[in-house]
Amino acid sequence: MAEECRHSTMFARLIEWMGTPAYRPSRLVQRLGKVLPGIAYGPVMWGAILIGEELTDRYQREMVNDESIQPLTRMVNRIHIMEEARHIGFARAELARSAARLTRAELLYHRALLGRIAFIVTRNLVTPEVYSSVGLDPRQAHRVALANPAYQETIRYGGEKIVAFLTENGLVGAPGMFCWRRSFLLP
Ligand SMILES: [Fe+2]
Ligand SMILES: [Fe+2]
Repeated sequence: MAEECRHSTMFARLIEWMGTPAYRPSRLVQRLGKVLPGIAYGPVMWGAILIGEELTDRYQREMVNDESIQPLTRMVNRIHIMEEARHIGFARAELARSAARLTRAELLYHRALLGRIAFIVTRNLVTPEVYSSVGLDPRQAHRVALANPAYQETIRYGGEKIVAFLTENGLVGAPGMFCWRRSFLLP
């Protein structure tokens, strides 16, 4: 908890230093985030955390190695990768341990909810507002991005490892498959 609070402070300072606006998730997504701890527990909760952490982790590793990216951004990413490695290891172990104990009925619930969460997370990786900063219509640009095979491929790349891990642990499957496909994490 303390580490995540420091991460928020670190990213907020970086955003402030860059002079960019603080883009926020929509009100609906913020509200859904508050509801989540009430309806999710065990495997789906670890899974939700891992989808958020591992997708960003994969993109951050790309940024660290990209010399065309501003040095402070690369350094912040490097710090975050180091600390997240421990979180990811812990959450993966807890997920595997708790998933093995689910009943059949629980498993279906966890799969359905996790698919939905995967969809919501991937749809919120890029806030449509960012497109207005480069003079594009946010709604239209967002629609074009979602239909772009390169964009979809980038999402799939980000989720490659975590989706494989969740599949191994039985959490990717019916009745969640429609959402997984729409999230672009699975073809
Ligand atoms: Fe973090
Ligand atoms: Fe974390």
